[in-house]
Amino acid sequence: MGTELAIRRDGWLRRRYRRSALGRALTRAGDQLMRRHVEWVHSTTAPHVRPGRLLDVGAWDCRVSALLRDRSGCDVTAVDVVDRNCTDVPLVVYDGRRMPLPDGAFDTVTILYALHHAADDLAILREARRACAPGGRVIVAEDRADNRAQRAIAVGFHVWLLSVTGMGWKGSFRSTAAWRERFAAAGLAVESVHPLGPHMGRRLWPRNILFVLAPV
Ligand SMILES: C[S@@+](CC[C@H](N)C(=O)[O-])C[C@H]1O[C@@H](n2cnc3c(N)ncnc32)[C@H](O)[C@@H]1O
Repeated sequence: MGTELAIRRDGWLRRRYRRSALGRALTRAGDQLMRRHVEWVHSTTAPHVRPGRLLDVGAWDCRVSALLRDRSGCDVTAVDVVDRNCTDVPLVVYDGRRMPLPDGAFDTVTILYALHHAADDLAILREARRACAPGGRVIVAEDRADNRAQRAIAVGFHVWLLSVTGMGWKGSFRSTAAWRERFAAAGLAVESVHPLGPHMGRRLWPRNILFVLAPV
């Protein structure tokens, strides 16, 4: 099963301590965290997924995409600007502007914790709307930045993520109101909003929120 494969490790912290006992302990802890993350993201997303074809945007190692395929029974395609795929889910790598995918081809488009990593989040939202079939849904999960404390937690978490995985971020942590404006600008109507609490229930991790959107 693709979801059981280890992630690649190339953050500076892991590179620096790779050969030491500390490095091995960090690696084990990181792998366990990633497994829990993948399960948590799947469990919070799956209730909103429509049967049929699913496009997972910003899929990273594609382990969440693989769970959505294996447990939700969807026909899944992943898309990202980098190839870190460690599963057998088909991944399309693109330039961050236009996804080489047909119009209206997907019943569900998921964008899970990816918009704040992107240099141009509006381009992703417009492409998601274009790729979404009439009557389909776009599901966005994000880290909340509705006040200073939430923003500080989100930034601190991403500095840690960068040091361990090498995954940087080029976008913005936005407030719920600012995301709503972004969705409207992309032609997506908010159908429902689901506060998820801290990521994986961990008190010091980013507060998450999930939006279910419909093409206007
Ligand atoms: C935190 S990871 C999310 C991984 C996965 N969705 C999950 O929840 O486990 C953010 C991902 O967004 C991707 N990303 C950054 N800019 C992007 C863009 N313009 N279009 C699509 N994906 C992008 C990154 O390469 C990375 O894989």
